[in-house]
Amino acid sequence: MSSNLNFSFNGKNAIITGGAQGIGFQIALQFLTAGANVSIWDYSADALEKAKSELGKFSGQLHTAQVDVTNRESCQKAVASLPWNVDILVNNAGITRDKSFAKLGAEEWDAVINTNLTGLFNVTKNLFEKFNASSSHKRIINISSVVGLYGNFGQANYAAAKAGVIGMTKTLGKELGRKGFTVNAVAPGFIMTAMTKAMPKEVLEQMAGKVPVARLGETSDIANACLFLASEQASYINGTVISVDGGIVL
Ligand SMILES: NC(=O)c1ccc[n+]([C@@H]2O[C@H](COP(=O)([O-])OP(=O)(O)OC[C@H]3O[C@@H](n4cnc5c(N)ncnc54)[C@H](O)[C@@H]3O)[C@@H](O)[C@H]2O)c1
Repeated sequence: MSSNLNFSFNGKNAIITGGAQGIGFQIALQFLTAGANVSIWDYSADALEKAKSELGKFSGQLHTAQVDVTNRESCQKAVASLPWNVDILVNNAGITRDKSFAKLGAEEWDAVINTNLTGLFNVTKNLFEKFNASSSHKRIINISSVVGLYGNFGQANYAAAKAGVIGMTKTLGKELGRKGFTVNAVAPGFIMTAMTKAMPKEVLEQMAGKVPVARLGETSDIANACLFLASEQASYINGTVISVDGGIVL
């Protein structure tokens, strides 16, 4: 689905973690289309190369860095490589390692918490001083999940990390509001990505059947929410979670 939002981010600088594919790529594409300079941070060199070639027409606005958000040194290096100060940070990098709690091991627990929650700390903490001091519209947008709000079978690690993201969002919203930031979370439901699109049609139809709006989400549904939250028009929205899930939990 294409976006018909017409926000302008000319002169604004955005960082999207995990932006080389999936939801993050669409967020990067829409910010670029709306005029922002975008730095994509991702640990996959292959995905970064592919993204760079797909975003070729935006090469003058695009910066990429190979960053592992779980590694503090890697985050520090990426901050040092930034060609500009930051106005908008979208913490989107995330992974799943699903297992029922009886089978969940420390390895799956650590991997998911380190990426989805500690990664958000590593990135935000290291970038904090790089935010445009003169801007009164600084934005941090954290990608959580419907699972962080309601839990999900087989995802104790992921639900804990995504709920942690919400707790951190609310706290930073309180602490940083007076410093010209808003800090919000977006909680996606079932979103179609390359991985989901490869699933059998019947399974996808069954999943869509559980959603009141009778479809799965598109990556642009999430990107649209991010662009809105990043806009000056959203400057009174702070410390909240916007669910973008077609009403699946109703
Ligand atoms: N797809 C969904 O249905 C869905 C639903 C709810 C929430 N989410 C959340 O949305 C975000 C994006 O999900 P997606 O479906 O696009 O996933 P994806 O796997 O398609 O993309 C995730 C990106 O993050 C990158 N990444 C992973 N670990 C990293 C690390 N340590 N350092 C740097 N980059 C790293 C990957 O290389 C990849 O490019 C995640 O936070 C995910 O938890 C997705």
